[in-house]
Amino acid sequence: MEGIKNTRYAVVTGANKGIGFEITKQLACEGVTVILTARDEKRGMEAAASLVNSGLPHVVFHRLDVRDPASTVALAEFVLIQFGRLDILLSGKAAKLVEGVSQQTSEKAEECLDTNYYGCKRVTESLIPLLKLSRSGGRIVNVSSLRGEFRRIPNEQIRNELGNIDTLTEEKLDGILQRFIQDFKQNAIEANGWSIMLPAYSISKATINGYTRILAQRYPEMCINCVHPGYVNTDLNWHTGTMTLEEGAKGPVMLALLPNGGPSGCYFDQTEMSDF
Ligand SMILES: NC(=O)c1ccc[n+]([C@@H]2O[C@H](COP(=O)([O-])OP(=O)(O)OC[C@H]3O[C@@H](n4cnc5c(N)ncnc54)[C@H](OP(=O)(O)O)[C@@H]3O)[C@@H](O)[C@H]2O)c1
Repeated sequence: MEGIKNTRYAVVTGANKGIGFEITKQLACEGVTVILTARDEKRGMEAAASLVNSGLPHVVFHRLDVRDPASTVALAEFVLIQFGRLDILLSGKAAKLVEGVSQQTSEKAEECLDTNYYGCKRVTESLIPLLKLSRSGGRIVNVSSLRGEFRRIPNEQIRNELGNIDTLTEEKLDGILQRFIQDFKQNAIEANGWSIMLPAYSISKATINGYTRILAQRYPEMCINCVHPGYVNTDLNWHTGTMTLEEGAKGPVMLALLPNGGPSGCYFDQTEMSDF
């Protein structure tokens, strides 16, 4: 009975493969009950079954497409009914990086922002009420990227806007993304000082970093951080990454299992605290 009372519950997004899958595995190995989520039912169920069959019985699948608001609401209802609370939210999904190989269309850029930034926000907003019920304070880990580091943005005004936590708001983040899309449509990415390397992906991750800091201020009882996992061998980079999945999951898992009083509102490069 005591064991059940002390069980921690985690939701991991985009967990059917890559770093999200490995995070699920490592959390389950630590005794956490993990809700492995994926947008595709078949891929998600197979991933969860492979972990259960490998001796990790406390992994359950639930569908989640972060682009679909109804899907985030359904997940929150499931967690509430099944477990009554949530202790850890690990947002790990990512839109595919098509930017590197082809001229990106504005639809693809918008899809990237809708998955990586607004998707993360949707899931977070749906699950915050359950995280508030956590007995261990709640942990949110947003998997970001070094591409989102503020100092890499050439435009000083955008850099400052994102970097000033005293004045940053969600409305300002929306405004930055609207300006980005406008410039994207007008072919003015380079001229207006947005990152020219993976522009949509980079700004989606920079805004996730800003959002993470806003949330950390709003919920001081939780530990809410973002992390660059490293350059990890996954489908995202066509397996050019130099780190293994095990190495890539280390930082996110460390932040998911932070003790009470641990850091919040911070950015980590793998397991080391770093500058935004
Ligand atoms: N790999 C690296 O070197 C690296 C470096 C820096 C940051 N990151 C970050 O690490 C995280 C994980 O990336 P990864 O390398 O493990 O990539 P990955 O292997 O390509 O996995 C991405 C995951 O996101 C899921 N996803 C995509 N759109 C989704 C949606 N709308 N709803 C729910 N899930 C969705 C994918 O599901 P499907 O299978 O259905 O497509 C997949 O499970 C991302 O946030 C990425 O930006 C990775």
